[in-house]
Amino acid sequence: MKITIIGTGYVGLVTGACLAELGNDVFCLDVDQRKIDLLNNGGIPIHEPGLEEVVARNRAAGRLQFSTDVAASVAHGQLQFIAVGTPPDEDGSADLQYVLAAARNIGRHMTGYKVIVDKSTVPVGTADRVAAAVREELHARGEGSMEFAVVSNPEFLKEGAAVEDFMRPDRIVIGTDDTPAGLRARDVMKLLYAPFNRNHERVYWMDVRSAEFTKYAANAMLATRISFMNELANLADQVGADIEAVRHGIGSDPRIGHSFLYAGAGYGGSCFPKDVQALERTARQYDQELLILRAVEAVNDRQKQVLGRKVVQRFGEDLTGMKFAVWGLAFKPNTDDMREAPSRVLLKELIERGASVAVHDPVAMEEAQRVLALDLSADQLARVAFKATPMDTLDGAEALVIVTEWKAFRSPDFEQIKARLKHPVIIDGRNLFEPPLMTGLGIEYHGIGRSVLTGK
Ligand code: UDX
Repeated sequence: MKITIIGTGYVGLVTGACLAELGNDVFCLDVDQRKIDLLNNGGIPIHEPGLEEVVARNRAAGRLQFSTDVAASVAHGQLQFIAVGTPPDEDGSADLQYVLAAARNIGRHMTGYKVIVDKSTVPVGTADRVAAAVREELHARGEGSMEFAVVSNPEFLKEGAAVEDFMRPDRIVIGTDDTPAGLRARDVMKLLYAPFNRNHERVYWMDVRSAEFTKYAANAMLATRISFMNELANLADQVGADIEAVRHGIGSDPRIGHSFLYAGAGYGGSCFPKDVQALERTARQYDQELLILRAVEAVNDRQKQVLGRKVVQRFGEDLTGMKFAVWGLAFKPNTDDMREAPSRVLLKELIERGASVAVHDPVAMEEAQRVLALDLSADQLARVAFKATPMDTLDGAEALVIVTEWKAFRSPDFEQIKARLKHPVIIDGRNLFEPPLMTGLGIEYHGIGRSVLTGK
């Protein structure tokens, strides 16, 4: 099938590359000439396992092209995926200007039936606004009767596993309406996703608004689980319970399930914080307040401070002249994404209290330098040393603080850690290690919600 993807950001690029991998002829459009040049020269603007290979293979096969030519992009695909950014406005609502600009371009250039697919995460009701924008342009050209449909097909890709998530989805949500153009779009979408439905039907068909809502509901539910566990973890520390034991204990109930119950240093990334806020904002537009989500956000803001708090509890309020080793900067493993990363909150606090830090992340160091330059003053940034290996961060540091659970951090040489740190102290924001084992090794270990096992 001939497909156009508008926007070569994270979602657009993964979607375009994976649809090409299935044999489709994909045209990716972006307004950013530099990004298009990079992609046309074999580069990839984001770190995502497996993506580079898929892009290279399909470019070589002639099934994947990148361009800034709007007219050509509209002419190319009967399917037009809108996968542009929806950054939060100052008030937390999703900014739709790029989505609506893409819609207007389609209306301006289309010459026949198009299926316009909203892939970006957009508030309930956006498909109607997209349709109105297209229709307005068509009317302006005297082509008011030209047929098109707007479909909602939200993505559920996890950063770091996006290619795998796309190729082996646990569900595909598609919202269409019951107009003749909508029913025709349903057939087009059925054909597009047929390769995923060989063994099990994975598509959930619904109306457009429910599909739009599903995406927010999923992310809000997942964020709620995390904040809930983080709140319980902090209480577990007080009452003398081990949150990991509790996690196993409740996860074994199939109604609860094991996944997404890990207490930690708070959630970050491009989706959860933004989508929780956007859903709250939508509710406010209808004079409703989402009390649970307000608490989810507040708990998460507090949880991002948990590592800083543990450092202060152990080393005092004034950290002047002290140095700390920090492992992990990205908001989660297998990505270089630093958006809303808990490491940013920790580093700011340590630096503001007078400390210096030595940090390591397997892939996010370059991105970290960019965002930390925004978070910190030049003087403060000078107190952040970026180290090539985890072990190089340790020399002379008061303690090691772990923020991101990269696999490479899971079995370190503990003797070396002890020898190189000033004190054998690990403050672990991701509960990577078993507390009794740490005590046995002579390491003072502070996890999240596990103090009963160490007395710390
Ligand atoms: C998420 C959704 O999972 C995905 O379906 C959606 O399309 C986009 O948002 P992503 O933001 O890439 O994906 O990462 P995810 O793996 O879901 O983790 C989000 C955050 O929650 C991370 O900061 C992670 O560390 C944290 N987390 C996750 C926890 O703190 N505890 C958990 O149990 C799980």
